[in-house]
Amino acid sequence: MAIKTRFTEMFGIEHPIIQGGMQWVGKAELVSAVANAGALGFITALTQPTPEALAKEIARTREMTDKPFGVNLTILPTITPPPYAEYRQAIIEGGIKIVETAGYKPQEHVDDFKAHGVKIIHKCTAVRHALSAERMGVDAISIDGFECAGHPGEDDIPGLILIPAAADKVKIPMLASGGFGDGRGLVAALALGADGINMGTRFCVTKEAPIPQSFKERMVANDERQTDLILRTLHNTARVMKNVVADEVVAIEARGGATFADVQALVAGSRGRDALLGEGDPDGGIWSAGLIQGLIHDIPSVKDLVERIVAEAEGLIKGRLSGFLG
Ligand SMILES: Cc1cc2nc3c(=O)[nH]c(=O)nc-3n(C[C@H](O)[C@H](O)[C@H](O)COP(=O)(O)O)c2cc1C
Repeated sequence: MAIKTRFTEMFGIEHPIIQGGMQWVGKAELVSAVANAGALGFITALTQPTPEALAKEIARTREMTDKPFGVNLTILPTITPPPYAEYRQAIIEGGIKIVETAGYKPQEHVDDFKAHGVKIIHKCTAVRHALSAERMGVDAISIDGFECAGHPGEDDIPGLILIPAAADKVKIPMLASGGFGDGRGLVAALALGADGINMGTRFCVTKEAPIPQSFKERMVANDERQTDLILRTLHNTARVMKNVVADEVVAIEARGGATFADVQALVAGSRGRDALLGEGDPDGGIWSAGLIQGLIHDIPSVKDLVERIVAEAEGLIKGRLSGFLG
C-alpha cells in the first residue's frame, strides 16, 4: 500500500513526505537518503558558499541517488544579498526540476524557473502569502504553522487552524509544515486538507543528517517546551532550540528597546554553524528546532523513519479511523 495524493502524483514521488531546506543540514548525505527512501529532499542552496559549490553539491547528490530531489532557495531581505541569479542559474544548469522557494518576493525566481520547466513549491506562513504565490504561478504551496522551526512569521497561527484555512482557499497542491514527525501528524495533515507533510526538525534527528550526534541527542532529550522564540521584538521571529545563547537573546529583548546590534553577535549564523559543525556544542549558538522535539524519541535512519511514518499513517486510516464508522 502507499498513500497517493495530488502531491505524489505531481512530483512523481512515492510518499507524500518532504524534507524542506535547512541551512547547514540540507546536504547530499541527507537529501539522497530522503530521495532513496521515496520521499522528496531539498539541498539548501545558501549552505553552499558559492554557486559553483552548489553545482558540485547537486552533482554529488546525483551520484548518491537516481531518484528525484530538489534545491531550496531561501530569499532573505538582506542589505547585501547573495548572488541569487547565479545560484538560480546553477540550479537550472544542474538539471534540477523541483525547487522550494522560501522568503521574500520570489517572483523573479518563479518566472525564470518556470521558463526552464522547473516546478516550484513555495513555502510561506500565511494564507494571504500562499494566495499571492499561487497567483505568481507556483505549482504547490508549503504552509508553515507556528509550531515550525525557523521563521513562523508574525501571525502566530498554529497548523490546526492555518492548514484548513489555507486549504479552503488554495487550489494547487499544498503541504502542511511545522510540527510534523510521525504517522499521526501525516494523517492529521491529510484530514485538514493538505496533500502531504514537510518536515525539518524530525529529519535533523536521523542517522544521515550531517550534524553532530550531540545535537541529535539534545533534541531527543528535549520535550515540546524546549524552544525559544527569538527576534520577536524585531519582527523577524525565529523558533530555535532553547539553549544558553537563545535564552540570552530572549532576556536582552525582554529588557525592551533592543536593536539588532544588541543581539547580532549572539544570533550570527556563523556562530551557530561553528558551534554546530565545529565544536558539536548544543549551547554554543543559535540552532533552529521546532515543537516536534517533544515527539522525537530516537535517531533512526531516514529509510526507517519514512517507512514508519507511512506504515503508522496507513494503520491509523485503516484501523482507528475506519473503526469509528461502526
Ligand atoms: C536547522 C534548520 C534549518 C532551517 N533552515 C531553513 C532554510 O535555510 N530555509 C528554509 O526555507 N527553511 C529552513 N528551515 C525550515 C524547514 O525547512 C521547515 O520549514 C521547518 O523545519 C518545518 O518545521 P518542523 O521543524 O517543525 O518540521 C530550517 C529548519 C531547521 C530545523
